Amino acid sequence: MTLQGKHIVLGITGSIAAYKAASLARLLIKSGAEVQIVITPAGKEFITPVTLSALTGKPVVSEFFTANDGTWHSHVDLGQWADLMLIAPATASTLGKMANGVADNMLITTYMSMKAPVMIAPAMDLDMFAHPATTRNIEILRSYGNIIIEPASGELASHLIGKGRMEEPENIFKAVEDFFAKQQTLAKKKILITAGPSYEKIDPVRFIGNYSSGKMGFSLAEECANRGAEVILVTGPVSLTISHPNITRIDVESAEEMYNASLKAFPSMDAAILCAAVADFRPAQKYDEKVKRGEDLLNISLVPNKDIAATLGKMKKASQLLIGFALETNDEENNALKKIVKKNLDYIVLNSLNDKGAGFKYDTNKIAIISKSGIRKDFELKSKKEVASDIIDETLSGFPILV
Ligand code: C5P
Repeated sequence: MTLQGKHIVLGITGSIAAYKAASLARLLIKSGAEVQIVITPAGKEFITPVTLSALTGKPVVSEFFTANDGTWHSHVDLGQWADLMLIAPATASTLGKMANGVADNMLITTYMSMKAPVMIAPAMDLDMFAHPATTRNIEILRSYGNIIIEPASGELASHLIGKGRMEEPENIFKAVEDFFAKQQTLAKKKILITAGPSYEKIDPVRFIGNYSSGKMGFSLAEECANRGAEVILVTGPVSLTISHPNITRIDVESAEEMYNASLKAFPSMDAAILCAAVADFRPAQKYDEKVKRGEDLLNISLVPNKDIAATLGKMKKASQLLIGFALETNDEENNALKKIVKKNLDYIVLNSLNDKGAGFKYDTNKIAIISKSGIRKDFELKSKKEVASDIIDETLSGFPILV
């Protein structure tokens, strides 16, 4: 198990154990994770940001603003970016603030904006750890779903002996690995994802296209890969980048190229999620040279493209799942239901252009998922990363876990 591709926010607070956070950051990075450190002002008294940023290759975040240049650090963006927030060491004061929502520094605001699971490794003197306030705060944090990595017993910085030492970096790292291993619900599964628009050439410089940004398909690819699946991502022209060892990206331009790449991949897949906004038509004639301006009307005749979803629907074996998307402007549910039948889909993800913040270009989306038996589930407006997670939970959770 490696942490390849995982985004981890490592929170460091003002405890002598902060020096061990450097080893922890190193272990996480060696295992392939991307680590963003958020440190409290007191934390910086124990370990310098220079040491930490040299290890992670990223500037350490500590203040809301970077002095002099007006850069604002967004705790909300960090909350969306992370797959895990790990606070190690967590002092008694930080535990208290987290439990009670006292958002007076960057670390606590990041914690309160966190969309990902949170693991906490407390570190303090034995009496502080044994104090009923700490016990109560830890109980409250557990009730929020946070995972506590219990401190160890032994000699403390005060030379007293008792429970309160932060767990050793190797053991915290192991807890992180175990946590992600449990999430590998799509291990050994192969998933085809189509994303982005298709460009249908008119002449060497012009095309018929659409506004699809590819963000939804890329979020799905990343989320499937993070859960252990091997992903083939067939994408039309987009400006997005993706780097994950489980993702093979195939760039195409036209619907025909997407059709060919998808048909080739599908037989060995366990599922396909067809997120691409494929052009339904292409120009009947492709001009070899740029069409010149003239006085006459220019007519471009269009011929229909092949439907990838419907073709895969015909090829589909009983063990394979097929998930399509529908973007409708009117009578959405009826049209979506017709598409399930016509294309032999197992699920259709419905997004409507009528919902604010949903659809093309946005970082957010609002969806409903309809199964082939006609059961509909509606979701709130969420980030595309969260929407990807919902789609996978809803449509691919039936896969047996093969770890
Ligand atoms: O029929 P409509 O284009 O609305 O269907 C949308 C669904 O079908 C999407 O999942 C889309 O990716 C897929 N599709 C396709 N090939 C096409 C047209 C649409 O796979 N040529």
